[in-house]
Amino acid sequence: MQKIQAIRGMNDLLPENTGHWQYFEKIILNLAKRYGYQEIRFPLLEKTELFTRSVGEVTDIVEKEMYTFTDRSGDSLTLRPEGTASCVRAAIEHGLLHNQSPKLWYRGPIFRYERPQKGRYRQFYQVGFEAFGEKTPEIDVEVILISHRLWQELGIANHVALEINSLGSNEERACYRKELITYFEKHQAVLDADSQRRLYTNPLRILDSKNPALQQLIEQAPKLLDYLQADSLNHFTKVCQLLELAGIKYKVNPRLVRGLDYYCQTVFEWVTTALGAQGTICAGGRYDGLVELLGGKATPAIGFAMGVERIIELLFEFKKLPPSESLADIYFVAIGEQAKAKSLVLAEQLRTTALHLKIIVNHNDSGFKSQLKRADQSGAKLAVIIGEDELNQGKATIKYLRVEKPQQQIEFNQLIQLINNDQ
Ligand code: HAM
Repeated sequence: MQKIQAIRGMNDLLPENTGHWQYFEKIILNLAKRYGYQEIRFPLLEKTELFTRSVGEVTDIVEKEMYTFTDRSGDSLTLRPEGTASCVRAAIEHGLLHNQSPKLWYRGPIFRYERPQKGRYRQFYQVGFEAFGEKTPEIDVEVILISHRLWQELGIANHVALEINSLGSNEERACYRKELITYFEKHQAVLDADSQRRLYTNPLRILDSKNPALQQLIEQAPKLLDYLQADSLNHFTKVCQLLELAGIKYKVNPRLVRGLDYYCQTVFEWVTTALGAQGTICAGGRYDGLVELLGGKATPAIGFAMGVERIIELLFEFKKLPPSESLADIYFVAIGEQAKAKSLVLAEQLRTTALHLKIIVNHNDSGFKSQLKRADQSGAKLAVIIGEDELNQGKATIKYLRVEKPQQQIEFNQLIQLINNDQ
């Protein structure tokens, strides 16, 4: 039979690596609590309209990257290509925004039909934080501080850099958009096919182009920051001042426009040069209009999401992952039917009293040598050996696998005590 393989760009996370993810998730769990964020979980599938309306019709995500299908009742459904829209939908649906300013976080798989390469997958994992109901520059900076603290706790703060920008209000952006179209129209001959296509639908995205031939043109394009009015400018200036006060280094990147339509005012990205082309590990910004756009009462909001694979890759790159845990502390080696039964029962008694111990019992009929080899591979400190001799004497043999210590015999009824004392 031919083997069936996983879908391109969708990865299995193997046992040798799940420990790394658990380490990361534990830090996130703790971080979220310390900043007052509560976890929310929502479905992987949503009505397609949720994303077309929020992310925007003329974005790469909606135009090219969504996994969309019609279900058996004829509804168009989409595997979530990001988390913010679902988070807002759920918050509105369950009244979480009524006279409250919830702070929510989520984790889980996200689906985008992109061209897979290192750091870019079709199923990847995001952890996202979203703060609702506050519009001050302080919350913008607190959100950035959460991500900054995460890099510190993971030990990668020196390898990532913060870029920020302001997208202003809808009106300011509309004004800028017109100017940008006029500018690029003058240089239409230089634009590549992608930029030509975006010129009238989403000209801000041209600024994001990586095409070397366009860099000079983009460099000289009008800057959005020059089109901001007093309110937006004050907000952005305050964000910059607060970042400085908090000791966070940043760079204003006027080309940072983000690929989703719901953003306004402050936007930011954490980037690294250590991962090749896919260097953005975390990104977000303000989306004050989204709650209303999705049918709720106008509510300011800001948040960010990070790509878990990229962060784990960075931790690998800089050797910041803790050593993997051993699979077992105690390994029962049992030879013969009766010995296997005895091991099964003894191990179970041990698990009742010693809650912290990891215990593996050999249940198959392999020989002594191969069982002992497996005991060693498990990382266990002790092998408890039970064979015919041991059964006859009512004692187990204890073999120390990690230290030079003579093996010893111990009566079955004292085994639990010995192990508890020993560990
Ligand atoms: P985003 O920039 O589209 O923003 O994605 C956030 C992060 O997800 C990226 O910075 C990157 O680390 C990771 N990521 C994106 N695409 C891929 C991929 N194909 N493979 C691996 N990792 C990827 C959002 O999704 C917004 N919802 C963020 C947000 C939350 N804004 C406000 N609140």
